[in-house]
This record gives sequence, C-alpha cells and structure tokens, in this order.
Amino acid sequence: MEDNARLLSLLGSIAIGILGFQFCRKVLPWIYSNIVGPKLMGSSIKLDALGKWAVVTGSTDGIGKAYARQLARKGLNLVLISRSLEKLTLVAKEIRDEFSVEVRIIDVDFTGSEQIYERIRNETAGLDVGVLVNNVGISYNHPEYFVDCCNNDPQFLRNIVSANVHSVTHMTAIYLPGMVVKRKGLIINISSTAGVIPNPLLCVYSATKAFVNKFSDDLQTEYKQHGIIIQSVQPGFVATNMSKIRKPTLFAPSPDTYVKSALATVGIATQTAGYLPHALLQLAIHFTEAVCGEQFARNVVLKNILSTRKRALRRQEKEKQK
Ligand SMILES: NC(=O)c1ccc[n+]([C@@H]2O[C@H](COP(=O)([O-])OP(=O)(O)OC[C@H]3O[C@@H](n4cnc5c(N)ncnc54)[C@H](OP(=O)(O)O)[C@@H]3O)[C@@H](O)[C@H]2O)c1
Repeated sequence: MEDNARLLSLLGSIAIGILGFQFCRKVLPWIYSNIVGPKLMGSSIKLDALGKWAVVTGSTDGIGKAYARQLARKGLNLVLISRSLEKLTLVAKEIRDEFSVEVRIIDVDFTGSEQIYERIRNETAGLDVGVLVNNVGISYNHPEYFVDCCNNDPQFLRNIVSANVHSVTHMTAIYLPGMVVKRKGLIINISSTAGVIPNPLLCVYSATKAFVNKFSDDLQTEYKQHGIIIQSVQPGFVATNMSKIRKPTLFAPSPDTYVKSALATVGIATQTAGYLPHALLQLAIHFTEAVCGEQFARNVVLKNILSTRKRALRRQEKEKQK
C-alpha cells in the first residue's frame, strides 16, 4: 500500500512538473507577447529613429493603408506602392494633408514581371528607408477546391505566388542591405492566420502565407544581430475588400483597429497574430488539435470553410440571374 502511495505521489509530482514546465515554456511567452507586452508595456521601438522613410506595398486600401496612416502619424515620410495610380494619388493627398509628411507614389502591379522591382529600386534610390511593410497580397475570390479554382484560371496560380511571395522576397532584397549598413530597420511582412492553421479550399493562398512566416522567421535569426527586426504578422479576418466583410466586429476589426494593435507588438513578438482576439482564435485551434487530434481540428475547419463556399456560390448564382 505504502509503495503504491509513493508511486502515485511520484507520478503526480512528475505530471505537475511537466505541466509547470509547459506553462513556463509556452503559456508565459504567449501571455507576454499578446497581453503584457503590447497592452501593458507597449512597443519601445521608436519607428522614426529607424530612418526617415517607410515603404508600404498595397497601400491604397485595407490593412496597407492603415499601416501607411499610422506610420505617417509617427512622423515617417512614405512611399506608397499599389496598382491604381488614381487611388494612390488620392491616398497620398489625404495623408499629406492630415499628417504633413512627404509622400511619394509608385504604381506597379505586383503580379507583373521582375522589372517592376528595378523601377521601385530606381525611384526610391537614396531614400533613408527605416521601415518596410510587405503588405500586398491577393486571395481567392471564394474558397474553392484546387482543381476547380486553378483549372479554370491557370494565370491565377502565377499571380498569387508573384503578389504574395515574390513581392516579399524582392522588396526585402531592395531595402535590407541599406538597413544592414545602418544596423537598424524594421521589416513587417503581412502573412495570415491561414498560414498557421489548417486552411483547406484556400490552399495556395495559405501556402504562400506559410512561406511568409518561415521566410521571416529564418531571416530574423540571420539579421537579429545586425539590429534589424523582421516581423511576420498573421491577421485573422479584418474588415476589408479582400475579406468582403463590411461591418467591423470584435473578431473582424477595422483595419485601423487591427494595425494599431499590431504595431504595439513590434519589438515584442516576431511571429504574431497582431490582435488579441485573433491570437485567441489561433490558440483555440491549436488547443483543439492538441486535445482532440489534428484530424478532428482539420475536419471542423473544413466544415466551416465548405459552408462559406456554399454561401459564396449561392451569392454568385443570384448575381448571375440578375
Ligand atoms: N482582410 C483580411 O481579412 C486579411 C486576413 C489575413 C491576411 N490578410 C492579408 O493582408 C494583406 C492586405 O489585405 P487587405 O485585406 O488589406 O486587402 P485589400 O483591402 O484588398 O487591399 C489590397 C491593397 O493591395 C493593392 N493591390 C492588390 N493587388 C495588387 C497588385 N497586383 N499590385 C499592386 N497592388 C495591389 C490594392 O491596391 P489597388 O486597389 O490600387 O490595386 C490595395 O491597396 C494581404 O497580404 C492579405 O493577404 C488580410
């Protein structure tokens, strides 16, 4: 009896030890990077001390425009890069008028050939760029099976990789060398929660976003000792044209709310959901995977995305009939 009691108490102590170890290893850093750091302490990085200029891709709408406005509010001059010259001109004027900073614009299509990067390099040569936000990205029109989405539009396969992957690596290649020389700089790469959770029916999109996370993570290890921060930001839904969510909610905030929250994590977390409700969502999925098994979590997500697809197809059908 006594031996059994001793064995039970030993097993109990080991279990408590493992739980304690896991708590210190996983839970405490999560609490620090999602709550204590951004909400209670705030980012200590002075963005305007990194350089006079910030470059933002996909900056005429949504998350990119919100980053541009927040950076201008902090006193940085801006290079806005997007596809539509008309929208760029309007946004540049809006930001100049409101924040009295210099704003330059470059109209390029990131699904285009590599020559666009030579143009961007030439048009920004000599600028003291301290912050680069690789935000531009495109997604599916609606969740779809790979065969159906890509056989109907093979060009889409090339475009999505160009806009979501090549833009990140090529833009980084333009501005990182200058940051290395100055031994300071910040590169924010906009990934997605889709890159860190199961995300069937958007598999090309989510794979490009997983690339962004991996690229950012390893690049941060390479350049941390050079004083450079490389951050991968992984939003859940944000109310923008891309998500087709018009009205912001707690779990799909406005781009301004989202970006204010994400900027508070700079210098605190290098891989981040950027916004507490999105971090909780990621946590809930990872918790489900750990407790109920990965297959169960995948099936839950698949069911959810299939119903989004069904709604989108029904909407499409109705529009065709109009
Ligand atoms: N919204 C979400 O729920 C969500 C969630 C997770 C991750 N994200 C990521 O966040 C980033 C921004 O998304 P968003 O929702 O803010 O998108 P958005 O509202 O659709 O805005 C996209 C911006 O990118 C520009 N753009 C689009 N295609 C372009 C191209 N081929 N060449 C140059 N510029 C282009 C658009 O400019 P023009 O209109 O002038 O072309 C616009 O300024 C993306 O990387 C996306 O994957 C978004």
